[in-house]
Amino acid sequence: MHRTKDGSVGLFSPEADDIYHARSGALTEARQKFAAHVVPADNLKLLDICYGIGYNTKAFLERTSGCKNIHIDAIDTDKNLAQLSPFFAADKMVNMILYHLLQPGRDTAPLLKDYAPFLDKYMVNLCLNAFLHNIYYRHISKSYKNAMKRLKNNNITMSLYVDDARKAVQTLDGPYDYVFLDAFTPSKCPCLWSLDFFRLLYDRMADNGMLLTYSVAAPVRNSLLHAGFYVGKTGVNGKSGTIAAKNPGLIKMPLSEYDLGLLKTRAGVMYRDENLTLQNEAIIAAHETERENSDLMSTSRYIKTSRGSRL
Ligand SMILES: C[S@@+](CC[C@H](N)C(=O)[O-])C[C@H]1O[C@@H](n2cnc3c(N)ncnc32)[C@H](O)[C@@H]1O
Repeated sequence: MHRTKDGSVGLFSPEADDIYHARSGALTEARQKFAAHVVPADNLKLLDICYGIGYNTKAFLERTSGCKNIHIDAIDTDKNLAQLSPFFAADKMVNMILYHLLQPGRDTAPLLKDYAPFLDKYMVNLCLNAFLHNIYYRHISKSYKNAMKRLKNNNITMSLYVDDARKAVQTLDGPYDYVFLDAFTPSKCPCLWSLDFFRLLYDRMADNGMLLTYSVAAPVRNSLLHAGFYVGKTGVNGKSGTIAAKNPGLIKMPLSEYDLGLLKTRAGVMYRDENLTLQNEAIIAAHETERENSDLMSTSRYIKTSRGSRL
């Protein structure tokens, strides 16, 4: 766990060997790469894939503040994380620990010793570093109750699915106005970036829906195109994210000729997971083999020969 540059807390997963949140600012990233593209309106449906501790949902609710009739479906494999977010009730035990830990001026060490046997090591570590802004918000902030009241009055509802997103999405109908995809980096967690997963998402998006992600990886953009989406860039100079939509009118910064050319090199080879059941390792191995055996132009050659046309 670390503090990111905007002061919000970021997590690191030793298991995935990857960060959960941008070092430049966890909450800032949620606002800029996801929520900033949302057009505030009533009657919206959001699918937040890889909900984690809920920064993206939080930024979405900030952005749509005052709007009514919103439903959010949140998916993550890790229930512990979701319980640390402001929007889903934690188990009684977790709640109690957090409540005690977060009383101002309290010496947390002895308390934690008492509770430790009831928790797995992972949860203890999270609690030890408990000043996640979300926990603060939920358990101490006076504005928490008001915020929750506002959600209720505006008919803002949420459902959490603790499951592999590939399985969970198959049980959901949508149609979603927004899909936020915040999975671990594609080269480490390709199961949520495959052509087959994007096809599944395409079927669940509204005609004017937008899929937003921080990833700018060539296999991701190529797969989105192959799944039927129009694809564009987001962020300053189009370098910090990707947008995919069924309606081309929603793409403000389309991929350039250079970007499209890049997708036709080996860098653009897609991740495949036909039955949506493969382990990440198997997807990575098959991807590697396909790249090695591919007749496509090498990416470094493309970059060398296209110098000057890069925008
Ligand atoms: C980059 S973090 C997302 C951070 C999150 N958006 C937040 O605001 O805290 C990636 C998340 O993906 C979850 N995850 C990993 N594999 C998954 C899968 N197959 N299905 C659903 N969630 C998964 C992890 O538990 C982790 O919370």
